[in-house]
Amino acid sequence: MTVSWFSGLLLLSALTLRASRGDKCVVGVFGEATILPCVYNGVKNLTALNVSSEWRTGTEMMLRREWTEGEEVLDAFPTGRMTVSSTAPQSGDFSVVISDLHLSDSHNYSQYLQIQGQNQSLLLCSVCLTVAARFTEPILSREDTKEGEPAKFICHSRGGFPEPGVYWFIDHTQRPPVEAVGTHIVKLPASELLNVTSVLTETVSEDTVVSCVIENQVLNETLSVTSGVLVSTVVGRASQAMSMFSTGLCVVVGVLVAIALAYQIKGDRLRRRGRQTHAESDSEDTEMIVVNFEQLKSLPETDV
Ligand SMILES: *[C@@H]1O[C@H](CO)[C@@H](O)[C@H](O)[C@H]1NC(C)=O
Ligand SMILES: *[C@@H]1O[C@H](CO)[C@@H](O)[C@H](O)[C@H]1NC(C)=O
Ligand SMILES: *[C@@H]1O[C@H](CO)[C@@H](O)[C@H](O)[C@H]1NC(C)=O
Ligand SMILES: *[C@@H]1O[C@H](CO)[C@@H](O)[C@H](O)[C@H]1NC(C)=O
Ligand SMILES: *[C@@H]1O[C@H](CO)[C@@H](O)[C@H](O)[C@H]1NC(C)=O
Ligand SMILES: *[C@@H]1O[C@H](CO)[C@@H](O)[C@H](O)[C@H]1NC(C)=O
Repeated sequence: MTVSWFSGLLLLSALTLRASRGDKCVVGVFGEATILPCVYNGVKNLTALNVSSEWRTGTEMMLRREWTEGEEVLDAFPTGRMTVSSTAPQSGDFSVVISDLHLSDSHNYSQYLQIQGQNQSLLLCSVCLTVAARFTEPILSREDTKEGEPAKFICHSRGGFPEPGVYWFIDHTQRPPVEAVGTHIVKLPASELLNVTSVLTETVSEDTVVSCVIENQVLNETLSVTSGVLVSTVVGRASQAMSMFSTGLCVVVGVLVAIALAYQIKGDRLRRRGRQTHAESDSEDTEMIVVNFEQLKSLPETDV
């Protein structure tokens, strides 16, 4: 049941993502590095020419590199967090790597190639970059209220960008009424990153399962937390955990079977030494163990 509403949600988010952003942007993660791809496919042998490459946002120059017949000219233009391969004329790969991404790096970038002796620079690539930040795993707390009054659930997550979708679920499927939920999204101090607090006020019984879901649509990242059960998982990692669990189970079962067999063999030997006349019943015992082993081996398969 849990899996089905999660995949429904994922499908929904995948569809909205496609609809809301027609042109494909490179999506970068705050604090991480990203690459803006750009490859020269022209016929000129750039290694034999004097060329320069510029990455611009609008009219602002972000990075400029120069090569004299394939050799990079180390000029003074500061590169900061942006780097281009020093052998770009040879490989034709003028892609730029931007490290330690800031939210303010979200721009439309253009790459211009200038060949000495030609008047115009050539627009090789236009790449759009969107930077988003991951939210922290949400924390769900329940505030004690007086008998008969609605319970108050507080869901908290921060450090992400842009504004996430915040969803509440009661017993995994039911959505609480809009007026029962209050969500406050503010910037963290001295930051563009967001602080998300959502409060659900609802009359529920003690054994009701309440979940809060924080969805970053740009990163396609869905985080959830469930009351009572105390699980907080990224979708996708849940199945990974499941497969790790069954692998672990396999190993444990294997070890147990090996120990059982070892004891059985040892027992057989002792018995053979003691009573040499009962060889037939011994082989019967061993057969039984083999059958058991087959059954155990097939157990974890049906589990996944
Ligand atoms: C979102 O992530 C899920 C798995 O985590 C993946 O199957 C899906 O293709 C992703 N969608 C997009 C639009 O990236
Ligand atoms: C390009 O020019 C360089 C230097 O003149 C030369 O060594 C190289 O072989 C040329 N490459 C091609 C593919 O013509
Ligand atoms: C490239 O520049 C160097 C130094 O400025 C010059 O000597 C050389 O002739 C130039 N080569 C071409 C192909 O323009
Ligand atoms: C990039 O350009 C497109 C239109 O060409 C515009 O809609 C979009 O907002 C721009 N993106 C950024 C990050 O400036
Ligand atoms: C390059 O510039 C020169 C002078 O500025 C001009 O005469 C020539 O027509 C230009 N060539 C091209 C291809 O634009
Ligand atoms: C985030 O918001 C909550 C509630 O609005 C507030 O209590 C908390 O102090 C904020 N956290 C930070 C780090 O600003």
